[in-house]
Amino acid sequence: MSELKRVRKAVFPVAGLGTRFLPATKAVPKEMLTVLDKPVIQYAVDEARKAGIEHFIFVTGRNKAVIEDHFDLAYELQDTLEKRDKKEAIETLSQYQPRPGETSFTRQQAPLGLGHAVWCARELVGDEPFALLLPDMVMKDEKGCTSGMIDLYNQTGGNIIATEEVAWEETHQYGVIEKGEKVASGFEVTGMVEKPAPGTAPSNLFINGRYILQPEIFDLLEKQKPGAGNEIQLTDAMLTLAKSQKFYGHVFEGETFDCGSKAGFIRANIAYALDDPGIRGEVLSDLKKWVLSRFLSL
Ligand code: G1P
Repeated sequence: MSELKRVRKAVFPVAGLGTRFLPATKAVPKEMLTVLDKPVIQYAVDEARKAGIEHFIFVTGRNKAVIEDHFDLAYELQDTLEKRDKKEAIETLSQYQPRPGETSFTRQQAPLGLGHAVWCARELVGDEPFALLLPDMVMKDEKGCTSGMIDLYNQTGGNIIATEEVAWEETHQYGVIEKGEKVASGFEVTGMVEKPAPGTAPSNLFINGRYILQPEIFDLLEKQKPGAGNEIQLTDAMLTLAKSQKFYGHVFEGETFDCGSKAGFIRANIAYALDDPGIRGEVLSDLKKWVLSRFLSL
């Protein structure tokens, strides 16, 4: 195998309208809704940084400028906190502060689908492999899904898709892959389909929103015709790329919360709250009370 190029950059598509969360998302992007004390987007950025990513590329849209503000230095706030000697708050801010030049932003000018959003990042990614993280999927795991994928990539090269098992009756909501032979810590991907019609999925392993892709995907996306939902689908372009390059699957074994849905968002909040020693006891005792009272009143 020729020498592997390191995965240094990550792309975060954050142009979605978030209509499922209206009216909350009328003026606030869905990626800025908070799970415990961090906006949803911060979880994906932290996961990427943990995996060694050095450059963070955001594909935004209209009304998303506050995401850029979130990753900027808040000079006035910093100054006020320093004057008031709020050391803990200053430390919290600095812990999440990207260094100058580590972030880039571009806009998807029309909502033409995930494939189109990724294509919008082509100039910022350039000619190197990159990680792609769909921020709606908040992944709770000590190691991080992207770190596990980089480990596999370092053994296999090529393209990596993270997958998880899902109930068969939910497969039509996702991209689904077909599993081939075991390779290193993962397996060969022998097929994929975007939102298969009920009863037709090749497996119950769904594409969970984390990818490592080679830059040849961009030329394919440029030519890609609309697919499922009349949108330019990343999965369709990956299928074409799979004719000339290898794709490997990584099974993620942590917990994933789909924060693009209300139930997933609430579950993420509960899971992170129960892990926070400062509020765990309070939340747990209320949860018990609510569950018991509803259970007993059945
Ligand atoms: C996208 C991908 C799909 C993947 C899903 C994960 O779909 O196209 O393959 O399974 O993200 O969240 P979307 O959620 O944009 O419909």
